[in-house]
Amino acid sequence: MTYDLTALRARIPALAAGTAHFDGPGGTQMPLPVIEAIAATLSRPLSIRGDGLPGERNAETVVVEARRAMADLLGADPAGIVFGRSATQLTYDFSRTLAATWSPGDEVVVTRLDHDANIRPWVQAAERTGSTVRRADFDPATGELTADDIRAQLSDRTRLVAVTAASNLIGTMPPIAEIARITHEAGALLYVDGVHYAAHAPADIEALGADFLVCSPYKFLGPHHGVLAARPELLETLRPDKLLPSTDAVPERFELGTLPYEFLAGTRAAVDFLAGLGAGPGGSRRERLASAFEGIEEHEGVLRDRLEKGLAALEQVTVHSRAARRTPTLLLTLDGHRTEDAYRFLADRGVHAPSGSFYALEASRRLGLGDTGGLRVGLAPYTSGEDVDRLLTGLSDFLERRTDAHG
Ligand SMILES: Cc1ncc(COP(=O)(O)O)c(C=O)c1O
Repeated sequence: MTYDLTALRARIPALAAGTAHFDGPGGTQMPLPVIEAIAATLSRPLSIRGDGLPGERNAETVVVEARRAMADLLGADPAGIVFGRSATQLTYDFSRTLAATWSPGDEVVVTRLDHDANIRPWVQAAERTGSTVRRADFDPATGELTADDIRAQLSDRTRLVAVTAASNLIGTMPPIAEIARITHEAGALLYVDGVHYAAHAPADIEALGADFLVCSPYKFLGPHHGVLAARPELLETLRPDKLLPSTDAVPERFELGTLPYEFLAGTRAAVDFLAGLGAGPGGSRRERLASAFEGIEEHEGVLRDRLEKGLAALEQVTVHSRAARRTPTLLLTLDGHRTEDAYRFLADRGVHAPSGSFYALEASRRLGLGDTGGLRVGLAPYTSGEDVDRLLTGLSDFLERRTDAHG
């Protein structure tokens, strides 16, 4: 299959501004069909979900189709797809609901590799219930978080393990299926942060063995909201706080208030757009997504290689992304220079690679980078070889200029 980068880029209006975007891990640029789907939803009658009037039926269709699309993307059951405002909000909601059954002495395992959205909600829920938080560490030298790191924190009191499927800071992809196995053997539930992962790999909640898998469409060409997948039978057992008149059906039980129908339409369009990057029109959407992710992984892999070779030639650059299995997201520090200055220098040249710890605060501290973090260079399906070259030239110019300036 050939990956048609030119055609792909032509369908993303924001790229016409000429910026080389390496900020995909913070949020991707949106293709025209996604924008159009949002606008089309708002251009037709739109009411609260129902089956009486056109506006009600439009809203209903949007929700049903978005659940199907997200189920195809995550290998889940549409009846187990919960929509929310963000992954952070969904994780807070589920942490409160799950913690309602925890008691003093129960334990929850979080990792130092995770984005704070998959740490703090669990820590705070544990504090409120008198439960104990155990922290699985990763190896800062290799960036690896292993199943043994998790195993070391498990006990017969473990109720839940919260772990990322891919670090948004250094890209590490821990062995989730193995972690799921040992978590379940310990009698605990596994909550997986798939926010960074879902943008780069073909997600499959069953293969991962996750009880809960949360992600955010704005990381994979869609609009800004969150999605959680779980088995409907598991969701049936949970009792979230909810309003009296609102339905108790699953998954609606977990969706507080009115859903952002226009964003759900955009998300369905994003999934269709991704599927369209796969081989030909044949096969199910799930099959086309699998083929599309093969193409995306190959494309991003080639560019990552080019980027890493270029960075290796720049003496002052340290790359902190080192795990054997990882996404094309590189965290850099620059000897003798603030990455904040590099970010501004590159921004003046139309290259957007932000600097920070990106809410993966504990990971940044564990890497010895404090709260400042580093320069994050993230590849996306629309990244081009020219983008990579512009970044490498910009970085090289920054380092040379500053070296000269320092005499
Ligand atoms: C790995 C990871 N988890 C969670 C989040 C939070 O996602 P949201 O903005 O949807 O709350 C992010 C956002 O950057 C992320 O990268």
